[in-house]
Amino acid sequence: MQLHDAAGILRDGGTVAFPTETVYGLGANALDPEAVARIFEIKGRPRFDPLIVHVASIAQARPLVRRWPAAADALTRRFWPGPLTLVLPKADAIPDIVTAGLPTVAVRMPAHPLAQQLIELAGVPVAAPSANRFGGISPTTSEHVQRQLGDAVDLVLDGGPCRVGVESTVLGLAGSGPELLRAGGTPVEEIERLIGPVGRPAADPALPTSPGQYARHYAPRTPLTVCDDWREVALTGRTGLLTLRPPAAATPFEVVEVLSARGDMREAAANLFAALHRLDALELDRIVAVGVPDAGLGLAINDRLRRAAHERADVVDGVAP
Ligand code: TXA
Ligand code: MG
Repeated sequence: MQLHDAAGILRDGGTVAFPTETVYGLGANALDPEAVARIFEIKGRPRFDPLIVHVASIAQARPLVRRWPAAADALTRRFWPGPLTLVLPKADAIPDIVTAGLPTVAVRMPAHPLAQQLIELAGVPVAAPSANRFGGISPTTSEHVQRQLGDAVDLVLDGGPCRVGVESTVLGLAGSGPELLRAGGTPVEEIERLIGPVGRPAADPALPTSPGQYARHYAPRTPLTVCDDWREVALTGRTGLLTLRPPAAATPFEVVEVLSARGDMREAAANLFAALHRLDALELDRIVAVGVPDAGLGLAINDRLRRAAHERADVVDGVAP
């Protein structure tokens, strides 16, 4: 019944936080500019950051865009529902506040049954950023959402922990060739196997192709250092370690968060944000994160770690930009 309430809230211009397979989203009716404005207000997010429009089917996405290239066909058949967002020329029906005035719109069909049912029941496309305060750590449980946004949201749906754990891959299809705008839950290598080479625009924080490229993002309050090997980092104070696999020997860290004991990148991605939330809650002096192999989901994990560390001038070689 909560699902019906949630769908009603969306139709009436309210906001609902809901689970997806990647992270929790903060949703509003994408066709209602005032409802979308509420999202920015709740997140404390600058108006110029465009939102992803979530749909329950490929058919629901088509009228939202002006062009549907062959690549969109191939990609959605293969990867939807799933952690892949496509950026395409927008149809007039999409309000400017959703796209931050851009002529393109990001669309995605999430692979979580609650998300799909919610969108279907609401009967409207749902604009939703990750359900965290702007710049904060993305939420992968409903508790994370409660803690960051709490009463500001009309309803928070609980669907348990998110399976993928990092946001969707954002792929630009509105230009002359496909471009990776954000590494995420769908490995870019798998996309390239299907449609050929994907461009990787250099991330320029001053002029982002996709505002998700803003350097500092997904950040804990605790200063975070990214490194290749924690033994190369000078340690002072109470420090926590974030690492893919368990350290081989005893470490000087107050606490160690292991992302996947068997080094499985899917498991690691699914655990990443929850581990950051836990470390951040300990009021440590520093978090030291060891970068992971830069392939597949590792690309998305390293990207999030780099952004979490940025502008603190404490990125130690290796996975630094
Ligand atoms: O997995 C996800 O994508 C999650 C769940 C909730 O679906 N959503 C999410 O939304 O991560 P958000 O708002 O935190 O990130 C959306 C990303 C940003 O990097 C944004 O700049 C990019 O998509 N984006 C949205 N519309 C765009 C557009 N028209 N052109 C380029 N980039 C766009
Ligand atoms: Mg986000």
